[in-house]
Amino acid sequence: MPHALEQRTSLLQALSGANQGPPPIWFMRQAGRYLPEYRALREKYSLHDLFFTPELAAQITRMPLDRFHFDAAILFSDITVVAKMLGFSLFFAEGPKVAPAMTLERVDVLSIDEEALNPIFEAIHLIQSDITVPLLGFCGAPFTVASYLLGGMENTRLWMKHHPDVFFRFLQVIQKATLIYTKKQEEAGVDALQIFDSWANLLTVEEFERFSLPFVKELSESLSIPTLFFMRNGSPYIEKIPCAISLDENGSLLQARQRTKKPLQGNLGPDVLFEPLSIVKQKTTEILEEMRKDPAFIFNLGHGIKPQTPLDAVYCVVDVVKNFL
Ligand code: CP3
Repeated sequence: MPHALEQRTSLLQALSGANQGPPPIWFMRQAGRYLPEYRALREKYSLHDLFFTPELAAQITRMPLDRFHFDAAILFSDITVVAKMLGFSLFFAEGPKVAPAMTLERVDVLSIDEEALNPIFEAIHLIQSDITVPLLGFCGAPFTVASYLLGGMENTRLWMKHHPDVFFRFLQVIQKATLIYTKKQEEAGVDALQIFDSWANLLTVEEFERFSLPFVKELSESLSIPTLFFMRNGSPYIEKIPCAISLDENGSLLQARQRTKKPLQGNLGPDVLFEPLSIVKQKTTEILEEMRKDPAFIFNLGHGIKPQTPLDAVYCVVDVVKNFL
């Protein structure tokens, strides 16, 4: 077990390129359905209630820490909550949905309600008074958030193709709300913030440079705390990402390290956790060997942990990482 002070700071040390001990570890989607204690709460409350009741969001944020002693907490929320700042109502039915449906005409009349996400900042205060590891806030980058507000990738493609200027203005409004939202997360006390552009891999290079990268840069530069960036298949853009990079299991950490000095996070495939524990150990160790003594490395999955994941595999990974010499 690392010393308590070490655990309090190792993520922030890695984000500043100065981690000396074993890499900090946390998992994307660590607060969620693979946890029986989460599923028990979920039977009593709607997802919306869990996201917007500060005490419940705080309670869920803590769950994976109590069980696995991860080196960071991530706020229990969702990338789509920002839609509430833009006047949408949000509900969850096999994924996030908004009402009313977004139309081209609405883009220029959307306004921003700065108070709409206040329960989330209250949750951040509650969490911070209750944990000893760093707390990560997060947001979606405008492209990925837009793809949910437009009801999926098919409609998003139509907007991009036939109305690129309106689409761009839509991204700008989402960005404006997101800048306020992330600044307020920082003010409420998150220690670092991860930007998810999960679907940006579906963009061509030219589209990525227009519809993703400038927004990610602006978000990252607007905050004083460290930021991390996640997309699927992000390897082509490693040199361009302005902050720490979360690589998925399709990327190579070793090759990424040769291309950038920025902090790197990743990248155990979430499916590996369904393998026998001997394989889980082996794949975890391979990553640790690849990044041995790297002062700017954070151990994570390549993407979010899956709902059916066996808990034993999670215990196993944490144990191997924390005892790696
Ligand atoms: O990491 C964490 O533990 C913090 C919580 C968190 C959630 N969503 C909670 C959630 C985070 C960081 C997210 C990010 C998120 N949400 C992303 C980016 C990361 C990624 O996986 O690419 C995206 C694309 C979303 C959108 C979203 N929210 C989808 C597609 C879904 C439904 C499918 C799914 O994965 O469950 C959600 C709902 C959602 N967000 C749940 C949770 C725990 C499901 C909860 C439930 O059904 O009880």
